[in-house]
Amino acid sequence: MEVVILPTGQQVAELAAAAVVGLVQRKADAVLGLATGSSPLGVYRELASLHDAGRVSFGHARGFLLDEYVGLPDGHPQQYRSVIRRELESGVDFGPAAVVGPDGLADDLPTACADFERAIAAAGGVDLQLLGIGSDGHIAFNEPGSSLVSRTRVKTLTAQTRADNARFFDSPAEVPRHVLTQGLGTIGQARHLVLLATGPGKAAAVREMVEGPVSAACPASVLQLHAHVSVLVDEAAARQLSLADYYREAYAGKPAWQGL
Ligand code: GLP
Repeated sequence: MEVVILPTGQQVAELAAAAVVGLVQRKADAVLGLATGSSPLGVYRELASLHDAGRVSFGHARGFLLDEYVGLPDGHPQQYRSVIRRELESGVDFGPAAVVGPDGLADDLPTACADFERAIAAAGGVDLQLLGIGSDGHIAFNEPGSSLVSRTRVKTLTAQTRADNARFFDSPAEVPRHVLTQGLGTIGQARHLVLLATGPGKAAAVREMVEGPVSAACPASVLQLHAHVSVLVDEAAARQLSLADYYREAYAGKPAWQGL
């Protein structure tokens, strides 16, 4: 696990965007794992501006969402499929059916989850997965207690996650209780995981993820078992890391050719 501490959230977004662009330049048909929430929004803005500048095309790339609310109708502004259309696809050039998410409106949700797993596998797996982290240590919607080898399935949100996400809805009661989410085992099969965290509200979760025990109590701690993880944080999110000086020294001395 590499921890990169940067002064600002904008620099975090630029570094993550550079990793995505580098991948797509090397591999035009790359498979990207797309996160929602506020953490990746800066990355998506950067990708749009790099696309506008002619530096990258997503015309052959594919995308898979991490998760989805159950029951939010098509066109609802907080349905994650709509969020990704608005925040990413509208600014770049993915093909018409290139981005898919788990179907939170399916009559048979377990079958929709299995279909989604099969679609990821059929695409050859995810090359680079963007991730945020919830204040309770969740990634995607894998709440504390999630099996560390779980697959895409239905989960129930914690009260804390519903409260955290209420800012996106007109009232807290509108936040759905149920979601579909890639499992921790699903996420762990992506070849490169890039987790972004900014602001003081993420500091405790980042500490538990990076320096705490591997435990379902902090689902993000499962990233310690993955061979290629980049944790990109600003100073505020890094402030509880006891090895922060070491992470800074290691990154400062890293040869440029290595990339993330
Ligand atoms: C939601 C999403 C997660 C995201 C988390 C943190 O629960 N399902 O993928 O990482 O929120 O969101 P934010 O980046 O807005 O803090």
